[in-house]
Amino acid sequence: MIESQPTSLETADTVELTEFDTALLAAGDPGIVSGLASLQAQNISAWFGDHKVLDRVSLLMPAGKVTALIGPSGCGKSTFLRTLNRMHELVPSASLAGEVLLDGHDIYDASRRITQARREIGMVFQKPNPFPAMSIFDNVVAGLALTGLKVSKSDKADLVEESLLKAGLWTEVKDRLRQAGGGLSGGQQQRLCIARSLAVKPRILLMDEPCSALDPTSTRRIEQTITELSTDVTIVIVTHNMQQAQRVSDQCAFFLAEAGTPGQIVEHGPTDVMFDSPQDSRTLDYVNGRFG
Ligand SMILES: Nc1ncnc2c1ncn2[C@@H]1O[C@H](COP(=O)(O)OP(=O)(O)OP(=O)(O)O)[C@@H](O)[C@H]1O
Ligand SMILES: [Mg+2]
Repeated sequence: MIESQPTSLETADTVELTEFDTALLAAGDPGIVSGLASLQAQNISAWFGDHKVLDRVSLLMPAGKVTALIGPSGCGKSTFLRTLNRMHELVPSASLAGEVLLDGHDIYDASRRITQARREIGMVFQKPNPFPAMSIFDNVVAGLALTGLKVSKSDKADLVEESLLKAGLWTEVKDRLRQAGGGLSGGQQQRLCIARSLAVKPRILLMDEPCSALDPTSTRRIEQTITELSTDVTIVIVTHNMQQAQRVSDQCAFFLAEAGTPGQIVEHGPTDVMFDSPQDSRTLDYVNGRFG
């Protein structure tokens, strides 16, 4: 079980929304009408043993938008991402404090099941991880049993087609669905993993450097997929590629862990503002490649 280590300061803290957040909320959460969901991290602190790696990180990830998490290596981006779907607690020494609200409900609430959170909030990793000997078809539906979803045999074929279409892989694999997933190229394998995540119909998709192992052509193909998906699914992507952040994201959050201190968000805002006229000089230096 996960151990919570909130300090009195953390529990007493209220989350301050920036002007940007308030504007987003005032504009109306599209999730309310479309079924899309927003995700809101509130005062997330995370530890590995007694090493604190995140300090009270708060971020609104709006419904139907792409949020990019940027920042130097080791500042806690992956850890933050893993707190958003309860994967952080899989590390034996890990603990955390704070809340993650999916449409206003804390995914850490004792009444919510872990499998429910992981089904609603899917994850795609840096290295494509299909089951190599399993067929392309079976790879796509592999998550169903794990999350307890039952789909009839006839509906499975439709689900596989729909998921592969959304992941931008259908035309390339439709005539070889029974062949092994491991026989695909790296970029195709990553889109297969995206299809596998989509098959359980997540409301949020977390992506941790999904293109860093891919060539430029596959990278652009995945970026196109991300843009297409964002009308259906709320996306949070970690990337070290500043051009990619600019191409795919609506908003960016800049993480930094200075001089051995736990990671924090220096600032966040609309992507164009973060790149052209951020408030903090460290953001400008980072997005211009002057450090990290
Ligand atoms: N399983 C773990 N056990 C102990 N410490 C960990 C573990 N995973 C990460 N850390 C530590 O937590 C801090 C944040 O790491 P994290 O992987 O979240 O950074 P990151 O921003 O994703 O870095 P990168 O850009 O290199 O992927 C680092 O100090 C790291 O050493
Ligand atoms: Mg990382």
